Amino acid sequence: MGRRVAIVTGANRGIGLATVRNLCKTFSGDVILTSRMTPTGKEAVNSLKKEGLNAIFHELDISQPDSIRMLREYIEEHYGGIDVLINNAAMSFDKNEDIPIYRKAQLCFDVDFSGTLNVVKLFFTLLRPHARVVIMTNGYIGVESALTGVAKSKFSDSTLRLYDLELLANEYLKAVKFSNCQKFGWPDSPSQCAKIFLVKMANIVSKLMESDQRRNLLINACCPGWTRSGASREYTDKDGTVGGEVLQEPDTAAKDIVWLTAISSGTATPNGNLVRHKKVLNASTCT
Ligand SMILES: NC(=O)c1ccc[n+]([C@@H]2O[C@H](COP(=O)([O-])OP(=O)(O)OC[C@H]3O[C@@H](n4cnc5c(N)ncnc54)[C@H](OP(=O)(O)O)[C@@H]3O)[C@@H](O)[C@H]2O)c1
Repeated sequence: MGRRVAIVTGANRGIGLATVRNLCKTFSGDVILTSRMTPTGKEAVNSLKKEGLNAIFHELDISQPDSIRMLREYIEEHYGGIDVLINNAAMSFDKNEDIPIYRKAQLCFDVDFSGTLNVVKLFFTLLRPHARVVIMTNGYIGVESALTGVAKSKFSDSTLRLYDLELLANEYLKAVKFSNCQKFGWPDSPSQCAKIFLVKMANIVSKLMESDQRRNLLINACCPGWTRSGASREYTDKDGTVGGEVLQEPDTAAKDIVWLTAISSGTATPNGNLVRHKKVLNASTCT
């Protein structure tokens, strides 16, 4: 068996970088810091080096299937498998950013949904027994109870497969394009909708893992809690809080994320859940 390896996507800044920092201190194996831009990724690796920590850089743009394949080839050649995969990369926006809603929906679904799905699909066969996979999401806005009508009934089908989820993503994008979100029961916010899809993705993949020959593969969706980094900008009030909740530092968020990757071998739960601050939330209400 090759050397143990952990991979973090979108790790040049924010929670991703803090997660790499934490893994460098706690994970027994190599930690791959990925970034869509080589200069920012290398800068992040160098900043960790100054702290005495060694991460390995590899470029990865999750919206580009060829970029995912290149990382896959690198991992296969150097490690032969994956022990930890943290899908952290996501779109983030400024508060009141002036961007047409359909463009925003395309970006959220190209990166957060399709990008993450392609990473999970392409890396799935490389996961070693006892591998731990995390999909970062937002359990404050990504609440399934925001769905109504047709969207709600299709989403709550317990036999939903990944392919069905992709079809539903297309249905959602079409609804945005033709201003039909309300009619079909989708939420208005593309960021919110993409996060709801990510929680469902973790749930569906967990079922595939349960029936896989490799033992004890676990995947969970993780909400880090409001954190002082890019993704909270859109929701932060003038007083620097999100609805009164004080933002935590990325290093604090990283502890909970790494906890999910360190669930001991043989432990079967949590799996397919939405987890915040080490607690499983109800995927429908996020409480
Ligand atoms: N911060 C919060 O309060 C909060 C709350 C709930 C959930 N989350 C989730 O936690 C995760 C991290 O949040 P954050 O606040 O640290 O976000 P962030 O500061 O906005 O960082 C996002 C990272 O994703 C990268 N990225 C964007 N598009 C990419 C692509 N196509 N391919 C590869 N990387 C890409 C960014 O790279 P560039 O630097 O090149 O743009 C950046 O490194 C996200 O999934 C977010 O939704 C955060």
